[in-house]
Amino acid sequence: MNIVVLAGGLSTERDVSVTSGTMVANALRKCGHKVVLLDVFMGYEHDECDTVSLFEEQYDFTENLGVGESIPDLERVKARRRDKSDRFLGEHVEEICRYADICFLALHGDNGENGRLQATFDLLGIKYTGSGYLGSAVAMNKGITKSIFLNHNISTPAGECFKPEDKDNGRLAEWNVFPCVVKPCSGGSSVGVSIVENKSDFMAAMEQAFVYEREVLVEQYVKGREFSVGVIDGKALPIIEIIPKEGFYDYVNKYQSGRTEEICPAELDEATTKLLQSEAEKAYEALQLEAYGRVDFLLDSNGKSYALEANTLPGMTNASLIPQEAAAAGIGYEELCDKIVEISLRKYC
Ligand SMILES: Nc1ncnc2c1ncn2[C@@H]1O[C@H](COP(=O)(O)OP(=O)(O)O)[C@@H](O)[C@H]1O
Ligand SMILES: [Mg+2]
Repeated sequence: MNIVVLAGGLSTERDVSVTSGTMVANALRKCGHKVVLLDVFMGYEHDECDTVSLFEEQYDFTENLGVGESIPDLERVKARRRDKSDRFLGEHVEEICRYADICFLALHGDNGENGRLQATFDLLGIKYTGSGYLGSAVAMNKGITKSIFLNHNISTPAGECFKPEDKDNGRLAEWNVFPCVVKPCSGGSSVGVSIVENKSDFMAAMEQAFVYEREVLVEQYVKGREFSVGVIDGKALPIIEIIPKEGFYDYVNKYQSGRTEEICPAELDEATTKLLQSEAEKAYEALQLEAYGRVDFLLDSNGKSYALEANTLPGMTNASLIPQEAAAAGIGYEELCDKIVEISLRKYC
């Protein structure tokens, strides 16, 4: 097949996406596909675009610098684009994607994962991997996700969403559950997330989160073990436990090697394993996810589970959580990438 792997983009998770995309492209090539690796925002910066030749030569944009300790400077990325336009799709992206049999979305965060690209591609007649526009949009918003979880009896921490005007109307001042967790509603990779111990640190944490977004979720802090459960084609994979060596699972602990211990399959009794897997499958259904996704959980000392969120385009480097879970189920990285393409194509039959 001719496949475009789309990576990069303009989200705070740009660097992670470039790493995912580079590895996915190489894996799909090993499976025998002709793969063009493209940065969705930078595009193919040439006046002429011979799409047929791009697939023959298996064009790669080469910018994989790895993931640093802090989020990328997106203004610098924008300034590098030669046409300086504010279009999300870079030069020739649409025509190259239209030529492909399918686009593998190795994008994370913002416009790659929040349903807008999915809706655009639907209208342009471009096939893509993963969930459609609706599931993507719903899962991107942690507040809406929470209300859907509650409607479907999926246990989730108690929480409320706030807007900047709630500072003035007194709503924010009424929050009195501590410790709590503050997170931008549509963020990812723990960007802007803080754990707040008391009321005096609360406003500063909210201000910090409002820098990223106008809608911020505040949740009860759940003390316990952390797990993530991948779901492929509606079926849960083996569970992975996440144990940061210091602090919580923040940006640095997520992407700097050696900072977090990950155990897969997680050491859990059979009943708890079944509970988390069935909660993950329920969440996938309830949020209308398609092809694959990943649901993050906490488990308290009483064995009660709390679903935190669902990721519609989870990390896809070979060391990411879903690839580790697939490996525990006997599915190697290349096979996993190929399987995601195959399952995603079924959406169009
Ligand atoms: N209610 C909570 N109680 C305790 N820790 C939390 C809670 N919510 C989030 N966290 C911690 O913050 C991390 C990021 O939160 P999450 O909701 O998964 O957002 P994202 O991964 O999209 O940034 C989690 O992996 C977990 O370590
Ligand atoms: Mg998460």
